[in-house]
Amino acid sequence: MTLSVFAPDLLRSRVAFVTGGSSGINKALARRFLQQGAAVVIVARDAGRLESARVELDAISPGRVHAVSADVRDGDAVQAAADAGAERFGRYDIVVAGAAGNFLGPTAELSSNAFAAVVDIDLKGTFHTFRACYRHLAPRARLIAISAPQAQLPMALQAHACAAKAGIEALVRTLAIEWGGLEGARVNALSPGLVAGTHGAEIFLRAIGEAALVGGQPIPRLATLDEVADAALFLVGPTGDYITGHTLAIDGGLGLPTTAAAAIAAAATRALATARR
Ligand code: COA
Repeated sequence: MTLSVFAPDLLRSRVAFVTGGSSGINKALARRFLQQGAAVVIVARDAGRLESARVELDAISPGRVHAVSADVRDGDAVQAAADAGAERFGRYDIVVAGAAGNFLGPTAELSSNAFAAVVDIDLKGTFHTFRACYRHLAPRARLIAISAPQAQLPMALQAHACAAKAGIEALVRTLAIEWGGLEGARVNALSPGLVAGTHGAEIFLRAIGEAALVGGQPIPRLATLDEVADAALFLVGPTGDYITGHTLAIDGGLGLPTTAAAAIAAAATRALATARR
């Protein structure tokens, strides 16, 4: 166990609502919030996987986990989940809109339904999550959307994900203004790159392989779930009080425009070599 820079019980008496909370990054965030003293409501589509996650998380902090099965594409179902969690725990200090779906697909071959599936889960799901929690938000609540480098980095075979994640970051900036001024909410995005142990990374690892995938990153490795959880904790703790409308990349530099930067660096190296001859 590595030393934490965060105070124990940092989130004591806080309540978090986490969509996509049965697996991957979102479950890791839910776990960290619980470890830091919060109560957590987790929402996911697959009822079986959700119940396994509830049992696993409940062992960390018995009686502090509430699970509701809902598809984030269904606004009414997300509202019912948010209402049920608020009835149990009172309000939301933290909201994480994290449910996501993805696959690699050539754009010309994507059906309308395939494109919509990812946009509806990621973007519309984020909207549904935030909207459903709005009426239950505590003063100065912290809202986090899970974005990805695709929001800003064009990526072949990822037109659906690029569009959805770019939309999420636009939504975050908009709500930082719209809900920040009146209600004091802080609204930010986390943009994890390739995170070990997640289905999102697995899709790319299977197709491309780890060396080719992370070899070009300034930090050439996958992230750990703990690193992403630490970044979330930074945003929801006192450290995040003056941060809003921001996308925090935790991606080893994957989202940097490295193609252009690498071309410039290579040209500079060649020019330097020529000058020295
Ligand atoms: N390539 C092309 N199209 C695909 C696809 C792929 N790999 N996977 C799904 N689709 C299409 C389907 O064909 C369907 O379109 P159609 O009706 O024209 O045939 C559409 O997307 C919806 O797919 P479906 O499986 O019915 O929807 P779903 O709601 O069950 O799941 C996803 C949608 C995106 C979540 C699905 O790809 C999936 O289950 N992915 C794995 C889990 C995952 O994404 N985890 C998170 C990673 S960040």
